[in-house]
Amino acid sequence: MQIAIDGPSGAGKSTVARSLAQHLGFIYIDTGAMYRACALKAFRNHLNLMDPAAVQTLLDQTRIEIGHEQGEQVVYLDGVPVTAELRLPEISRLASDISKLPACRSKLLGLQRELAGRQNVVMDGRDIGSFVLPQADLKIFLTASAEERARRRQAQLQQQGITEDYNQILKELLYRDRQDSERAIAPLVQAADAVLLDNSHLSQPEVIDCIMQLLRQRGLADA
Ligand code: DC
Repeated sequence: MQIAIDGPSGAGKSTVARSLAQHLGFIYIDTGAMYRACALKAFRNHLNLMDPAAVQTLLDQTRIEIGHEQGEQVVYLDGVPVTAELRLPEISRLASDISKLPACRSKLLGLQRELAGRQNVVMDGRDIGSFVLPQADLKIFLTASAEERARRRQAQLQQQGITEDYNQILKELLYRDRQDSERAIAPLVQAADAVLLDNSHLSQPEVIDCIMQLLRQRGLADA
């Protein structure tokens, strides 16, 4: 079974997808982390994203693998776990930049489809319902207002002891929203058969309840 959760940055996809996967006993796959791994490799190698041949060569030499430890996804970049570094702010922006490039998207598409083909998954990203898994059993487009997403991101950072200016966070979010939605290949878009969930005023348990209700209505979960 495949459940696709797409939406803009900071909409709470990963928290919802992880908790839903746990609830259902499925594997959670965070596809954003794969793009972030490509970005980390580019960052470490001072890659010029404007040079398609250099991008292709570097990505051809890059090994990205996904594992799971105690239900948590672990990303291996060239055999080394890199999960913590993937969350650095400079990597967030670079992930959005590199994810526009055809060499990057085609590299990760096969891996994502293969992972979803061999187990029950909840997969989150930008193009899962619209492109990666068009036959997914349930597609959710999870969103929230940009202001609310920025507020949540700021609170999240504060919990980690990082103080960031709200306006700067909002600006970065809007930059990524625009870039992820306007790119030519597999942009962020709500699939025609996806259910829109705006969680600006919903708690995480309420979102999970909503999704479980949708699964039951479709005969995909026990009543
Ligand atoms: O979900 P995230 O913030 O970790 O994703 C980082 C970037 O990766 C995001 O700005 C766009 C890109 N991405 C993508 O293009 N397609 C996906 N399925 C997931 C992420």
